[in-house]
Amino acid sequence: MNARIIGTGSCMPEHVVTNDDLAKIVDTNDEWISSRTGIRKRCITDKDNTAGLSAKASKMALENAGIGAEEIDLIIVATLSPDYYVPSVSCMVQSEIGAVNAFCFDLNAACSGFLFALNTVNAYIKAGMIKNALIVGAEVLSKLVDWTDRGTCVLFGDGAGAAVVSASEEGGVCQTIVGAEGAKGMVLTCPGRSLDNMCAKEERQKGYISMDGQEVFKFAVKRVPQCICEVCEKANTPLEDVKYFILHQANERILFSVAKHLKIDNQKFPMDLHNYGNTSAASIPILLDEMNQKGELCRGDKIVLAGFGGGLTWGSALLEW
Ligand code: UT7
Repeated sequence: MNARIIGTGSCMPEHVVTNDDLAKIVDTNDEWISSRTGIRKRCITDKDNTAGLSAKASKMALENAGIGAEEIDLIIVATLSPDYYVPSVSCMVQSEIGAVNAFCFDLNAACSGFLFALNTVNAYIKAGMIKNALIVGAEVLSKLVDWTDRGTCVLFGDGAGAAVVSASEEGGVCQTIVGAEGAKGMVLTCPGRSLDNMCAKEERQKGYISMDGQEVFKFAVKRVPQCICEVCEKANTPLEDVKYFILHQANERILFSVAKHLKIDNQKFPMDLHNYGNTSAASIPILLDEMNQKGELCRGDKIVLAGFGGGLTWGSALLEW
């Protein structure tokens, strides 16, 4: 049995923040942000937290798939910005949508999270352990961003994307690859609580995102083409047979660089980062849903998904839609 995406959904907060809006709170401007990243605006939540956005995206994905919440066996939410340490976002989603028969857990592989979730669900389906899964990439990064740091606050946005993945005799996931390089993890961090217990005391850290952008950039432009080639080689599929390369939406320049490296037209690398910024684990399922709703994905199309980011982590998947 193959793991096949049979429905998608997404939820973007209504409140839009433009580059000009940000120029009023930090020393930046539209020219710098657009030319270095491609980002023009992002959505920032003023109401729903991570679980709320996830549940709305999930309900849309279930409707699009045409199956009931009680038919879902497993829910995985990929996020680095959960609402609580416990309960998990996935348990909160289960409760909100009424997926009473599902077991649930969250997964943190930062911006590669959706690929890690797909890889995990693929394994459960191949093992015959589940039939239907719901995977969500969701972030409210606005609660983790230092709004006085122009180096990071202009990059990120909030949102959620979801996909229903079901066991299918044809199509679906052909190959997946996931990887990590923990030794380079400190180039993109967001500290949790410091060690301040009965035995040890550390100075309390501020829990904001901090990033060595250039190091992450170098990692992405090297690793992403590699993991795309690897997943296609493993599936015996030439790069030319792939209709779309749907990549994590971090930076337009990264996507162009990957396209150039692979000698593939930029047109095959769809983008929505202009409107949403970098939504980490949510960016791939949001874009997938946009394309699905517009009817741009046809049965039988070969599609590569690729994520990269904090950890450092990366992942790719080759699917037949
Ligand atoms: O999703 C997780 C994965 N994350 C990524 O993929 C991010 C990868 N990295 C990047 O996309 C880029 O490195 C950034 C967009 C984050 C930064 O672009 P850059 O071309 O690497 O710029 P930089 O950090 O080297 O900064 C260049 C200059 C600096 O000024 P000086 O030192 O040259 O005077 C910065 O202080 O730009 C300055 N700068 C800004 N200026 C205006 C940094 N941020 C801003 C800003 N507005 N928002």
